[in-house]
Amino acid sequence: ELKSFFISEEYGFVLEDPLTELPHCYQPWMDIANNLTHLIKTHQLRDLVKKMPLLSTLHLHGYRQLRLAHLALGFITMGYVWQEGLHQPAQALPKALAVPYCNVSQAMGLPPILVYADCVLANWRLKDPSRPMEIGNLDTIFSFPGGESGKNFFLVSMLVEKSANSGIQGVISAVNAMVTFDISSLHKALQRITLSLKNMEEAFRIIHNHVDPKIFHGTFRIYLSGWRDNPLLPDGLWYEGVREEPLRLSGGSAAQSSSIQSLDTLLGIQHDLDSAGFLRRMRSYMPPSHRQLIETVAASPSLRSFVLSSADPSLCQAYNTCVSALVALRSYHLNAVARYITVPRQRGQTGPVAGCPFRGACEGLSDRGTGGSNPMTFLKSVRDCTRKALITQH
Ligand code: HEM
Ligand code: ALA
Repeated sequence: ELKSFFISEEYGFVLEDPLTELPHCYQPWMDIANNLTHLIKTHQLRDLVKKMPLLSTLHLHGYRQLRLAHLALGFITMGYVWQEGLHQPAQALPKALAVPYCNVSQAMGLPPILVYADCVLANWRLKDPSRPMEIGNLDTIFSFPGGESGKNFFLVSMLVEKSANSGIQGVISAVNAMVTFDISSLHKALQRITLSLKNMEEAFRIIHNHVDPKIFHGTFRIYLSGWRDNPLLPDGLWYEGVREEPLRLSGGSAAQSSSIQSLDTLLGIQHDLDSAGFLRRMRSYMPPSHRQLIETVAASPSLRSFVLSSADPSLCQAYNTCVSALVALRSYHLNAVARYITVPRQRGQTGPVAGCPFRGACEGLSDRGTGGSNPMTFLKSVRDCTRKALITQH
């Protein structure tokens, strides 16, 4: 079952042991991507990209090479657009970058912009392969300015996503249990999901020791910004040699996480119109096989109706415990957004902070999430609608 959605039994939606090397002919991309932070800080990246040879994508073989190519070209693209900070975004991607990037993207069913499935799910490696997968033993494959804080933002997100693994398995067992009317398995599946949500929150907690809010806000998150719902690039971005019209694409955000949307869908959470529209749009930024799980769950019988009509108090209880754990995770996330976005913004820590190469260049993103939402309105609504799914018991 899991295999058919390209989901790993151990890692969930996280890509198992991502490749770190492409075939030799792609060295021009890898040389740039491997050195990205330095090239951005010294303002050399755009010039180097303009000199890049236009490479055919025909020598890329298989899913894993495509994932690495999409990741590498995504990092180069974000660095290219935001090299000079938020003041002077590039308006167009040169042909040697745009053409292969769009080819790879099309082959994968992903848009040509850095997505969560790239920078979080496929951007990790073990420092010492004989030691466990914990923050001190992890590194990213590519990184943006922002030092350890930037890397750790990706790595903590990856560990949260990995903890969702048993929850995803719970989603699949819950659907199967409903179909076979197996109440005891359904009960177990819900307990499994609750436990997984608690583990996700636990994994999230370490962010506070590993990501500095000033650096995150003032330096790092710029590079995740996109070209849709972004006043700095109102028309979008031109992809030279690909199409006449600019493309408008949202920036990288965990709103593109397939785990959370699978859980929402299983639990029958009804988001309000705007939030639901945004979250639905984010599905087109997920790998098609991951998106497929959400759609399969959406097409299955409704768990909430099943629980309601079962009139089984202990099943209701198990469902409610699960919903409450999701509410708790979303509340925890809201606190993180306050600490990492609202507070640094209020303190004016948007510009010349330690490690930020662009003096005062970081204001533009202030009131938007990198995915383009109005974060507080959106995230509170999402959390509150989750709570509304609770079943009142008499
Ligand atoms: C959405 C910020 C960490 C999961 C969002 C949004 C913002 C945000 C602003 C709104 C969408 C947008 O426009 O981008 C942050 C900050 C974080 C953080 C500042 C830490 C410093 C995480 C982590 C996860 C996560 C570690 C878990 C993998 C989500 C999800 C959404 C979201 C699932 C969509 C809304 C929902 O379903 O509740 N985040 N995020 N975030 N974030 Fe985060
Ligand atoms: N989506 C996160 C933000 O808006 C990364 O900062």
